[in-house]
Amino acid sequence: MQPTLQTDARPATATTAAPLLAVRNIEVVYDNVILVLRGLSMDVPKGAIVALLGANGAGKSTTLKAISGLLKTEDGEVTRGEIVFDGERIDGIDPDKIVRRGIFQVMEGRRIISDMTSLENLRLGAFTRNDKNVDDDIDMVYRYFPRLKERTGLAGYLSGGEQQMLAIGRAMMARPKMILMDEPSMGLSPLLVKEVFGIIKQINRDLGVTILLVEQNARAALSVASHGYIMEQGKVVLDGTADELRDNEDVKEFYLGGAGDQRKSFKNLKSFKRRKRWL
Ligand SMILES: Nc1ncnc2c1ncn2[C@@H]1O[C@H](COP(=O)(O)OP(=O)(O)OP(=O)(O)O)[C@@H](O)[C@H]1O
Ligand SMILES: [Mg+2]
Repeated sequence: MQPTLQTDARPATATTAAPLLAVRNIEVVYDNVILVLRGLSMDVPKGAIVALLGANGAGKSTTLKAISGLLKTEDGEVTRGEIVFDGERIDGIDPDKIVRRGIFQVMEGRRIISDMTSLENLRLGAFTRNDKNVDDDIDMVYRYFPRLKERTGLAGYLSGGEQQMLAIGRAMMARPKMILMDEPSMGLSPLLVKEVFGIIKQINRDLGVTILLVEQNARAALSVASHGYIMEQGKVVLDGTADELRDNEDVKEFYLGGAGDQRKSFKNLKSFKRRKRWL
């Protein structure tokens, strides 16, 4: 008898399950004329942390806004392709409906409401919920971010790191299936980046929430992500496991090279040929 053979009898869905989020060949246009995403595709498996990396202006935030529906608030539109979440098309749907389907975006620059307290900000995150567990979840957020409980004043007076924690806590309050995070490391000291990314990993593990993480800090992002996509000029130019990307020469040079967490400037690209390899 060969008991090991039994593993082969597992249903195929164990390995070929549809991703929680599938972005298929989307094109995004602002103001009817400005073409920003040009056939972008990516998959985010359920329960994963996936990193979306790229230089300034590559279209990372636009990708997140296309998914969360917030494009609409900026006169942007998905003009081609499709976005499928949990088996259903979501492109073109209003942002509040997308929140109700289980996607919550943490905007770039910690868009908390500065003239409200932390607690009021957290309650706002739960605006789509009508269950009775909101108070329990506030306690849960405070367990991840104890400093938020201590700071009872207006959120505008929180430090940058604390505001980032509040922005993440507010997303948790929606009990989403998926959180889209736009540059959580922005403006934080290396020590705080480590702390915040540690908590991101913990939240992913404890709550099973799927995370799509946009970052310029590739090192930090690849330290918590299982997969990554690198985009340039509105398209994915490279993707792979976090390990593959960390070992890739181009990624090392452009994103992980140089001092500390600083990515090399694209202006200093030595050879266009290297860049071509991604295309
Ligand atoms: N509301 C808008 N209207 C018109 N053009 C826009 C708008 N938002 C972004 N863009 C343009 O789309 C391109 C991609 O911008 P996006 O903010 O998605 O890039 P990004 O990768 O997030 O960059 P960064 O790393 O600087 O945040 C840029 O050229 C930008 O000027
Ligand atoms: Mg951005």
